[in-house]
Amino acid sequence: MDKQSGIIQMFNDISPTYDRLNRILSFGVDRRWRRSACEKALKLYDKPLAHLVDVATGTGDLILFWRRAAGRLGLSIEKESGIDPAVGMLEIARKKVEGATFLEGQAAALPIADQSADIVSISYGIRNVVDLEGAMKEFYRVLKPGGLLVILEFMSHEKKGLMDRLTLFYMKRLLPAIGRLISKDPRAYTYLPESIEAFLSSEQMADKLQAAGFELVQIHDETFKISTRFIARKPQ
Ligand SMILES: C[S@@+](CC[C@H](N)C(=O)[O-])C[C@H]1O[C@@H](n2cnc3c(N)ncnc32)[C@H](O)[C@@H]1O
Repeated sequence: MDKQSGIIQMFNDISPTYDRLNRILSFGVDRRWRRSACEKALKLYDKPLAHLVDVATGTGDLILFWRRAAGRLGLSIEKESGIDPAVGMLEIARKKVEGATFLEGQAAALPIADQSADIVSISYGIRNVVDLEGAMKEFYRVLKPGGLLVILEFMSHEKKGLMDRLTLFYMKRLLPAIGRLISKDPRAYTYLPESIEAFLSSEQMADKLQAAGFELVQIHDETFKISTRFIARKPQ
C-alpha cells in the first residue's frame, strides 16, 4: 500500500471514535481555533457565499462552524460541499451535517468545478496530503478570483521554551496513550506527532502558498503555536 492509501485507510479505521477523541485530546480548544478561523475569514470576505468547499472534511465538523459563524455575521452560504477520501468519515458527516453535500475525493483531485468556490477550507487535513503541490493547484483552480483559502494546521517548529517542551510531552507521550485506549488503534495517535514533526514550518507553508499563486492575507498562531491559521487569497 502506498503512503497516501495507508493514511486514508488509517482515518477510515478511526472514524467511529474520531469526533469524541478530537474533543478530549484538544480539551475542546480546537472549537475556539475553528470558530475564530471561520469568523475571521468571513469578515474578510464580507459577502454572501454561493459555494463553500471544505476539503479533508472528515466528519464535517468545520462546516458546522462555518454555518454558525455565517449566522452570527448575517452572511448566507448557499451550498456547502465536504470532500474526503475516507468513506467511513463521510458516512458520519452525512448523518451529522444535514443539507451539505459530501463527496469522496482527494485534495489533489477535487470533484469541484473551476472557479466555483468562494472559500476553500482545510482543517488539520493538509498534513495528510502527500501531493501538496497538486492540492495547492486544485485549491487555486476551484476558487473564484478573490476567493479565500483557509488552512488550519499543526505546523512543525523548533521546540525551545518550557511550553514547547510541555506540548511535546503531551503530543508524544500522553496523546498516543489516550488515543490508543479510546480508538483501539495503535497507529493513529503516534502518527499525529510524527507527522507534525515531519511537516512544514509556517514559513515553508507561506512559500508554498505564494509559489502556487496565492496572496498571503494572514498567518496567525494559536495557543502557544500549537495550531496555525493561514488565510490566503486567489488574486482578482
Ligand atoms: C485529522 S482529520 C481532519 C478532519 C476535519 N477536517 C477536522 O477538522 O476534524 C484529516 C482528514 O484528512 C483526510 N485525508 C487524508 N488524506 C487526504 C487527501 N489526500 N486529500 C484529502 N483529505 C485527506 C482524512 O481522511 C481525514 O478525514
